[in-house]
Amino acid sequence: MSTENARTRYVVIGTGGRCTMYITALCTTHADAGELVALADINPGRLEYYVNQAKTDYDVDVDTFDPAALTEYIQTKNIDRVIITTPDFTHADYIVESLKAGADVVVEKPLTVNAESSARIAETVKETGKEVVVTFNYRYSPRNTALKAAIQEGKIGEVTSIDFSWVLDTVHGADYFRRWHRQKENSGGLLIHKASHHFDLVNWWLADAPERIYASGGLKFYGAENAAKRGITPHLRGTRDDAEKDPFALDMRTDEKIKKLYLDNEHHDGYLRDQDVFGPGITMEDNLAIIADYSRGAVLNYSLNAHAPWEGYQVAVNGTEGRLELEVVERAAVQPLTTGGVPVDPSITDDARSNQVRAKGERLVLQRHWQEAEEIEIVEGEGSHGGGDKLLLDDIFYGPGNDPYKRPAGLVDGIHAIAVGICGNKSLISRGPVEVKNVDLGLSAAAEAAE
Ligand SMILES: NC(=O)c1ccc[n+]([C@@H]2O[C@H](COP(=O)([O-])OP(=O)(O)OC[C@H]3O[C@@H](n4cnc5c(N)ncnc54)[C@H](O)[C@@H]3O)[C@@H](O)[C@H]2O)c1
Repeated sequence: MSTENARTRYVVIGTGGRCTMYITALCTTHADAGELVALADINPGRLEYYVNQAKTDYDVDVDTFDPAALTEYIQTKNIDRVIITTPDFTHADYIVESLKAGADVVVEKPLTVNAESSARIAETVKETGKEVVVTFNYRYSPRNTALKAAIQEGKIGEVTSIDFSWVLDTVHGADYFRRWHRQKENSGGLLIHKASHHFDLVNWWLADAPERIYASGGLKFYGAENAAKRGITPHLRGTRDDAEKDPFALDMRTDEKIKKLYLDNEHHDGYLRDQDVFGPGITMEDNLAIIADYSRGAVLNYSLNAHAPWEGYQVAVNGTEGRLELEVVERAAVQPLTTGGVPVDPSITDDARSNQVRAKGERLVLQRHWQEAEEIEIVEGEGSHGGGDKLLLDDIFYGPGNDPYKRPAGLVDGIHAIAVGICGNKSLISRGPVEVKNVDLGLSAAAEAAE
């Protein structure tokens, strides 16, 4: 953390999409807390994009280094904290190396993608006494905090069960099937890559930990085999050069940032940001269901769909004194992206498309036994994500304050969030329930380190 005399010295590894929030914060709103010393990435083009942006937009000079020389860079440049925004399967090695080299770590969710690397991270934290912060931004969203507050204040008594359904649409959901995520060893599949956000919310809402997991699901919509079964042949869709024909295609030429970051830099590493969602090689599921038993007795019934016509989520929390329901519509309907390279109707925004059947918005309802339902106000703050991003960044860069909702997440939280997905993935193979205690995730080392 920063002191009055010296700012904490940061490096960021992984200069793709997600690093923007951290780089911007360190160059602007949180520059008093930390100095952005350097960036690293295996792709020199993306690295250069952010170095130029720091200079042009914020007048900040940023150094670069080869990620293979991380230890040397940390030690010779006295780096205090490493922010890791690389693909999920690379997190563990960078975390362990950073800690051993003497730096603390801030890592994007998910902490990592399997049990072995989770245990390795926990052992290293115990050995080195260094810190790992996992950034769970969903906790900071005002609606999710409002639900936490209502449960914590005992408005529905003791929680007995949760129904949680998350739908990703054919814009956002499809995107995971175009990139590195599509191979399960890279992302842990959506149960880890995406749903670790959701399981973290449940763990945090309940202030409890999962004990036993049963999962079911599969790849039922995307992928070459499913497309062939439905008669969707490649010639019916656009190619990369006429992507505007295909509503499932990402036309990287039409988005300046995506073009500069990914399309223009493919020649360095062959990273294709716009792979065909109906092409071969996808090894992760797009429809998933989980039943999880929690240690104090609550049961979670969860589902994830990645090809819905709208995007959002519904949570119902049952308690001994009533029920809370949170309904969120993030996008009411997906508009075909383009026709002939131009938006179908540029005047139709997501908001304007909302109709009376499904409208973009959110609603938190409390109904206690024997009483009428009442709506709980969701209080938004200033800035992006209802003010949630600022609170998250404050906790990361200034250190956790005295938060009544305990939003800052440490290593134990990071492990509990992936525990459901890791055990869920085992359950998908064994087709039976998996006890969390039978999988070595490093939870006891992490708990010891936290004492
Ligand atoms: N909290 C959230 O809501 C949220 C949102 C998006 C992404 N994320 C997380 O952020 C991380 C990055 O996701 P993204 O969408 O920015 O991905 P991305 O593909 O856009 O960027 C990843 C970057 O890492 C680089 N890279 C790949 N392998 C590397 C290696 N071995 N060493 C160094 N650099 C390497 C790539 O060249 C690329 O520039 C992921 O862990 C993802 O789960 C979190």
